[in-house]
Amino acid sequence: MKKTIVTVTLNPAVDKTVLITNFKAGRDFREEKISITAGGKGINVSRVLTVLGIPNLATGLLGGVNGDYIKNQLDQERIAHDFTRISSNNRMSLTIIDSSTKALTRILERGPKISKTELKAFTLNSERLLSKASCLVLSGRNAYGVADSFYGEIISRANRLGVFTVFDTSGKPYPIGLKKKPLMIKPNLKEAEEIVGGKLTLFFQIKKALDHFHNLGISTVAITMGSRGAIVSNQRQIFMATPPPINRKSPVGCGDSFIAGFVASMNNRDSFENSIRLAVACGTANAFTINPGDVKLQLIKKIYNKVKIRKLKKLSNG
Ligand SMILES: Nc1ncnc2c1ncn2[C@@H]1O[C@H](COP(=O)(O)OP(=O)(O)OP(=O)(O)O)[C@@H](O)[C@H]1O
Ligand SMILES: [Mg+2]
Repeated sequence: MKKTIVTVTLNPAVDKTVLITNFKAGRDFREEKISITAGGKGINVSRVLTVLGIPNLATGLLGGVNGDYIKNQLDQERIAHDFTRISSNNRMSLTIIDSSTKALTRILERGPKISKTELKAFTLNSERLLSKASCLVLSGRNAYGVADSFYGEIISRANRLGVFTVFDTSGKPYPIGLKKKPLMIKPNLKEAEEIVGGKLTLFFQIKKALDHFHNLGISTVAITMGSRGAIVSNQRQIFMATPPPINRKSPVGCGDSFIAGFVASMNNRDSFENSIRLAVACGTANAFTINPGDVKLQLIKKIYNKVKIRKLKKLSNG
């Protein structure tokens, strides 16, 4: 049986995005454009994988009317899914994009509290799904009520089964999970700075950060830098990939789209260099849309040919 890519979203959301000109706190506004979608970082990755035609399965925790909405949306988009049911309602996230300044304001709910029984049910389900997985993408914030060590436990299980794990979260579970040696991480610059505890402004600082992560046992590290692209290392080689300049609509989900591009390319056994190229192309294609992961294949192909990629020298100690 051919194995699949499994994405995990522990705290999915109904994502509402509103465009408003000259948004300011303390005033009433009428929206210019509103769009609602099934969100959460793992789901965004699944959405892009589906556009790329790569078999994948989204899992996580769904409940209440928002959970029903997310499920129906996934069905409509033909995104395969196998979520564990919870008793409380999933959250709703609001993104306000100021159409004049492009400034982003986000209101992120904490999400429902997950009970021990629900988490146990999810663990059993994810163990079953892991046995069918070639790659596991663990993305997004931990759910409320779930121990900070939970992601780390899933990573250990995936490693025992030889599943390639991509880990992309923030907050306390991140450093704890990193100690369990996921095979790939994709922090953005700010997240990477938080973990290494210092500014990453110069190339040599970024290279030192890459070494720091490799020394933890993480074999592939992508540090993404928004419009400046990404620096990606697999211990043997380091590449810097730069997308063409664009007029971005929304950066939300660019990192998720980047991950989808990378694992899709890996799934097709493409080279490291081409995987980075597709990752950056997918990340940049996502910046053209206000709905996270709502990327267009034609646009990805166009950007792919315009991504500039160059090999960087490693630090002298290897
Ligand atoms: N303004 C932009 N112009 C062009 N490409 C962009 C822009 N913003 C993001 N990208 C693309 O998306 C990739 C990932 O972006 P970024 O570093 O913003 O991820 P992120 O902060 O993890 O995003 P998120 O967590 O919201 O998914 C970049 O490497 C780049 O290819
Ligand atoms: Mg991110």
